[in-house]
Amino acid sequence: MKLCVMPGDGIGKEVIPAAVQVLQAVLPELETVMADAGWETFEQTGNSVPAETLQTIRDCGAGLFGAVQSPLYKVDGYRSAILTMRQELGLYANIRPVQSIAGVTPSSEKQIDMIVVRENSEGLYIGRETVDPSGETATAERVITRAASRRIAEQTVALAQAQSRRKITIVHKANVLPLTDGLFRDSVRDVIAESGLEIEVDELLIDVAALKMVGEPERFDIAVTTNLFGDILSDAAAHWGGGLGLAPSLNLGDGVAVAEPVHGSAPDIAGQGVANPIAAMLSGAMLARYVWHRPYQADKIEQAAAAVMQAGLPATGITAFVTDAMLGRLAR
Ligand code: IPM
Ligand code: MN
Repeated sequence: MKLCVMPGDGIGKEVIPAAVQVLQAVLPELETVMADAGWETFEQTGNSVPAETLQTIRDCGAGLFGAVQSPLYKVDGYRSAILTMRQELGLYANIRPVQSIAGVTPSSEKQIDMIVVRENSEGLYIGRETVDPSGETATAERVITRAASRRIAEQTVALAQAQSRRKITIVHKANVLPLTDGLFRDSVRDVIAESGLEIEVDELLIDVAALKMVGEPERFDIAVTTNLFGDILSDAAAHWGGGLGLAPSLNLGDGVAVAEPVHGSAPDIAGQGVANPIAAMLSGAMLARYVWHRPYQADKIEQAAAAVMQAGLPATGITAFVTDAMLGRLAR
């Protein structure tokens, strides 16, 4: 069992080492290999994810990435580290679970336990943008293929089966995009039907899904959707799990996966020891659950994280406090 550890930029350098300590507390046999990725790496090497890093992730079969600081303007030759990893490693599924924690998360009288399954390889993220010579019209291509839609549906079915889920909601915009989103919707429906899985299946247009995510989050169990819709819907969903600061994610491919806290590099608070490492730890737990097939260890981390959050955080020294509290609980 091997892990490629990539702290990346900003608070990634604080939360990722903390998450590795927690992983090793429940999986003592875990070996780690450090690798570079991110904006700083780009500035030093001209590449946000050097070829050696990609190879190390492939060799390990698993990576844990912190965060990347991204410029909002176009920098020649730069592509976001996480986007590069998704593309180069074929990480076609993005699994984003959201769980409420009693007494901690918003409206926590509501029991929320959902997963947003985001198609991670195509849609508007293929990066084909052009601007015409006049500079007056810019165009982005959005590609949906049957193959990628079926592949994400197969992951969704496998997940639903493994976790005895009750419902799959297909989220799309086929009323306006009948060819692309129609293909996505039909492909997902086909795969679910062919699988023989007995589960409730419904569908929502993305705008209605967004409204329901705000007003009726408990109606969701598994939501499966295209890349950009999944990007947006999973951030909205994360609100019910305590916000982006607590949200984990797993980018999954065939034989390789990269876990990543959804939060960014937070340059404003970097280096102060105040970043909460829980999202990074929960991302590590996702590796334990989905990649190393150690659900018991994943449950332990998740339960400890909920208990630590319920006990409350200090005003300063949060990274060290949470790490110690987690290690203390896991040692019991
Ligand atoms: C995410 C992030 C990324 C995305 C950015 C950093 C490129 O928002 O992982 O959700 O848009 O996919
Ligand atoms: Mn996002």
